[in-house]
Amino acid sequence: MKKKKKPAEFETLRQENEPREESLSFEEMTLLRSGEDRSKLSPHDTSDRAHAVRFVRKNKLVTAAAIVIAIALLAGLIGGILFFVSWLDSRPSTADFTVILGEEKPYTIPYGDAVRGGILYVDMRRIAAYAGMTVGGSDTRMSFAAQGNTYLRFENDSEYAIINGDRVVLTAEPLDGGNAVPAKAIINASECLVPYSFFKKTVSVGLLFRLDRDTNTLQIKRATYALDGDEDNMVAADILFHSANFDIVPEVTEPPKYEYVYTIDMTPYLDSITTENLLLANKQNPLSEAYVPADLTELTCATASGRELYLCRDAATALHGLMEAMIADGITDAYITSAYRSYDRQYELFFTTYYNKEKAAHPEWTDEQIYAQVLTYSAYPGTSEHQTGLCVDFMTSTMHDLDNSFASTDAAAWLRENAYKFGFILRYPEDKVAITQYSYESWHYRFVGRDAASDIHFSQVCLEEYLSASAS
Ligand code: DAL
Ligand code: ZN
Repeated sequence: MKKKKKPAEFETLRQENEPREESLSFEEMTLLRSGEDRSKLSPHDTSDRAHAVRFVRKNKLVTAAAIVIAIALLAGLIGGILFFVSWLDSRPSTADFTVILGEEKPYTIPYGDAVRGGILYVDMRRIAAYAGMTVGGSDTRMSFAAQGNTYLRFENDSEYAIINGDRVVLTAEPLDGGNAVPAKAIINASECLVPYSFFKKTVSVGLLFRLDRDTNTLQIKRATYALDGDEDNMVAADILFHSANFDIVPEVTEPPKYEYVYTIDMTPYLDSITTENLLLANKQNPLSEAYVPADLTELTCATASGRELYLCRDAATALHGLMEAMIADGITDAYITSAYRSYDRQYELFFTTYYNKEKAAHPEWTDEQIYAQVLTYSAYPGTSEHQTGLCVDFMTSTMHDLDNSFASTDAAAWLRENAYKFGFILRYPEDKVAITQYSYESWHYRFVGRDAASDIHFSQVCLEEYLSASAS
């Protein structure tokens, strides 16, 4: 059998026979490059020169192939860059939005504030001011009346809006296309944000809209017409809202669960009394150290002398109504001794005031025993309901300390009977200590809003029970 040559030996042989270009003379190289001698080259010619010719031929082929590959790669790269640039260019702009209302000075809104969840919002308060609409409402509900008895009404966080009395589902078209999605109005002390596409559809005449996505510019201006055909006398057209573009959802009017009888006119307070606020702060649900309610309002009803006390706006207004009614019912010695407390104030109370009090009373106790005792009546900083700005402690002028001697006062009896009508509940009842994890506080009342307060009052549950029942 013929013995195969080992590949290694073959490589060695080839290398030995391979001519090296630099070993050729200048004349030989010139001849080879001109190709003059190639035709004469016999395939059996094994001279150095023949090897050299083959070597150069092969090199040229390799070079040509390399050039072709390089050109192809370069073309691919340029194509890729061009594609990427055009993709970048075709993406919707996320530049700040500029809003131009008529001839007014344009203003800009950061993109993230103008566009939320892919929906462009407009501030109805600014548009109303420009377009001369009548604005009414509070921090949670706002109405905008234009001409001809047409109006829009929005409620914070509600999936509905009212257009001329018709209740419609609040929807919005995403800024960059797609089907309309459910949306909500966002109302606070300074703004009433409403999806732009929704607002635009509510306007039947009187306003003109132009949205330029290339520059993120939104222009809204009043339509004008020539009065009596006189082009020199252009006047703004009336703005009319209509609900024709929406599905109207009839209001579900449930009969009121409870009947409320007041001894004085509650009309000025009713909006606040019926505003629900179920923010929970307890041992399991702490607030952040930085939490400060946004709408703290100074109490104008009787407070501990010389003290400025604050509550959230609706709670403050509802409390005002409650105190007026209590006084009208002949109880005049009750006052508020504590309302909103900051995290720092609670820190001081817990670690200094009450710690020192228990230490003085029980010098033999360890710190652990002292804190365990303090925790039965004072909240660890961050867990006090007083930090929510939604609760108050009552006292009467006959009391010296804040304690359960309050329970036997006329004020306490009146509160037990009536507080729910004003949206307040007794927060730490005697029979709920195991759930609230605080001892009985006959003086501590919490604002939750009238519906929740009534349910809690009549079903004799505490806030934790009420919330876990409504969550399930
Ligand atoms: N006294 C109540 C529990 C508080 O400290 O918030
Ligand atoms: Zn309290």
